[in-house]
Amino acid sequence: MFIANKINLRIPGPTPIPPAVQAAMNKPMIGHRSGEASTLINEVSERLKPFFGTNEPPLLFTGSGTSVLEAAVINTVQPKEEAIVVVTGVFGDRFAKILTEYGVTVKRLDVEWGKTPEPEAVKNMLKQNPNAKAVFFTQCETSTGVLNPIDKLAPIVKEHSDALVIVDAVSSLGAVPFEMDQWGVDITVAGSQKALMIPAGLAFAAVSQKAWKVIEENKNPKFYLDFRRYRDNLIKGTTPFTPAVSLLFGLDASLELLEQEGLPKIFKRHEVMKEMTRSAIRALSLPLMTSDQDASPTVTSVYQADGWNSESLRSDLKNMGIVIAGGQQHLKGKIFRIGHMGYCDPLDVLPVLSAIEISLKKQNVALSFGTAIQAAEEVLSTYV
Ligand SMILES: Cc1ncc(COP(=O)(O)O)c(C=O)c1O
Repeated sequence: MFIANKINLRIPGPTPIPPAVQAAMNKPMIGHRSGEASTLINEVSERLKPFFGTNEPPLLFTGSGTSVLEAAVINTVQPKEEAIVVVTGVFGDRFAKILTEYGVTVKRLDVEWGKTPEPEAVKNMLKQNPNAKAVFFTQCETSTGVLNPIDKLAPIVKEHSDALVIVDAVSSLGAVPFEMDQWGVDITVAGSQKALMIPAGLAFAAVSQKAWKVIEENKNPKFYLDFRRYRDNLIKGTTPFTPAVSLLFGLDASLELLEQEGLPKIFKRHEVMKEMTRSAIRALSLPLMTSDQDASPTVTSVYQADGWNSESLRSDLKNMGIVIAGGQQHLKGKIFRIGHMGYCDPLDVLPVLSAIEISLKKQNVALSFGTAIQAAEEVLSTYV
């Protein structure tokens, strides 16, 4: 790092915090049961609706993303019931682990990491498991950088089964389109520290009317994560337990920025960053982990190849003040991942690419400086 604490954070979450959001979080504390707090709670929930693509008011939790993954499980499925989990990486696997922990019979559709499922495979899973009460998907599988096509997969479930469709949109909501009501998604969960540009600590769940019927009948013991408490409180402009008020101040400010930009431009910005990154990686002849069709606009994964080491690359970048992510589970030491979501614009991608070139050259990879930058600039220049 050249300057102490000057970090270019390009991991797929937590993401950098815009100054206006940082400033909002420094506001003096208010009473969490005050009228002011109620207004804030009601307003942020209302303003989150377009990001989820729903008319249902998103519920607000204090917790990390996994808290609402767990909540989505315990509010819907019961021990010995069956649930299908489409596992495309670490976070699909996390749903399966939570379900297993609660005694639910898990039917896994394991998809090769770096790929999305064939619609036919999902259809077959539904046919083979007609008793499944819910089907769990991950929209962006952060560990590999695929974007599962929920717009195509959710309707398949609706067509062939009565199961609930439950989607983890933690690393995609606010960066890519999500049309919960239109696609037939029953529960969508998300977190604060990715495209929504606030620190970790807030989590969200939007719940369909169909899911509420199941939730009302669910007998699982639960307390902090009981969706009904959050729904009943939200109507009164409160949360059942003390909310992270400072993070709500931050959310209010981040929604302001996102609303000013507008959803179409936000989605476009992420598309451009994805295309710039992929084009640059290709120009360097490095192996992308995902196909163009499957790639997420929020994170790009690259396989390590002969002649250079991905952990040395990450360490060189760190020395230059740029933080990118490595692989998780069996991908540890085998890939690197560049986050390009949230408070990140196309020009922010260039320093990462430049530093990658420098590290590769240092590792004796034959390349001409500027190769990646040129490819990325060519993409960007078609958009400005
Ligand atoms: C897709 C996805 N789901 C769930 C989580 C878990 O969120 P948390 O670490 O906030 O509990 C993450 C975190 O990276 C994620 O990317």
